Amino acid sequence: ASYDMGGHDTYMHKEISEQPDAVDRVLRGRIDDRFSTVHLGGLNLDAREARTIRRIKILGCGTSYHAGMIGASLIEGMARIPADAEPASEFRYRNPVVDPDTLYIAVSQSGETYDVLAAVQELKRKGARVLGVVNVVGSAIAREADGGVYVHAGPEVCVVSTKCFTNTVVAFALLALHLGRIRDLSVTDGKRIIEGLRRLPEQISEILKLEDEIKELAAEYAGAQSMMFIGRVRGYPVALEASLKLKEISYIHAEAYPASELKHGPLALIEPALPTVAIVPDDDLLEKNRAALEEIKARSGRILAVAHQEQEKADHTIVVPKNEDELDPILMGIPLQLFAYHTALAMGRDIDKPRNLAKSVTVE
Ligand code: AGP
Repeated sequence: ASYDMGGHDTYMHKEISEQPDAVDRVLRGRIDDRFSTVHLGGLNLDAREARTIRRIKILGCGTSYHAGMIGASLIEGMARIPADAEPASEFRYRNPVVDPDTLYIAVSQSGETYDVLAAVQELKRKGARVLGVVNVVGSAIAREADGGVYVHAGPEVCVVSTKCFTNTVVAFALLALHLGRIRDLSVTDGKRIIEGLRRLPEQISEILKLEDEIKELAAEYAGAQSMMFIGRVRGYPVALEASLKLKEISYIHAEAYPASELKHGPLALIEPALPTVAIVPDDDLLEKNRAALEEIKARSGRILAVAHQEQEKADHTIVVPKNEDELDPILMGIPLQLFAYHTALAMGRDIDKPRNLAKSVTVE
């Protein structure tokens, strides 16, 4: 691709920096203050149909799968419809039961990922209703779906996804709000979420100002052999995505675990040479997350926390602005994009074209 880099050294850096505008774009024209809801023109699903949905299954690969995991928790939380995400690449090979009361949602930046497209085609053949949450307008998955929500992140050139991940999660927040307001989400909660969404671009800009601090931290962690990423519930997909980002561009081995699962095995790995990145939002799980930090500190593990306030047990805390609990995962991932970026840069990696990877995997 030959888009202008606009003064940035890499597309990744450009795309990270574009996020305040990108988020503004996905929100634009969709908020309805009168009813504290959103309008999604391409959804092709009326309120009566929306009320008959009993379950939601979200399918995607890689980063889009992680965005779908956060999407599932947003939908379940706001619309109280049971929802989960699964890698499309797995789903299509396990002869899934296709249920008429389930709404399927395919997530893809490119709209061309073969595993996702094949899952959509199999679902459609079995009579399922499939929506797309897609970035590229008119792409194969967008055309194949019955309707959907465009992510409007703009062109993403770097192989690793940044702004599109963020915008996809925001698109899911809009869908969750829409479904929630058709079902049981109150006007007050709708208003609370809308106000939270409107705060995002400004808060992302604030996080981007932390780049120098994050760059210094990255220089310290750049030599690590391996890193652990932990989070709980809403924080877990953030940890998964941050670890994927780090391994894709720095080639540092990284794994992500729910913080709650540490004691069931991975705690055995903790020692000074294995740093942990912990997602620690100021929500009802704060004390639980703090307990995990103590467990790690007791084994002399180094901790980098992403949190809403300094964490005493952490060696470093990247403090990010607080939004509504539901929307915090959107913000907490952003400093870790910069962390992966600067770690890889310090290690001399080819940021925009990591080895062995393609921007979209359009073959089997
Ligand atoms: C993202 O950093 C990766 N390049 C990869 O995991 C990607 O998200 C995946 O291949 C799915 O691509 P898509 O969103 O275009 O379908």
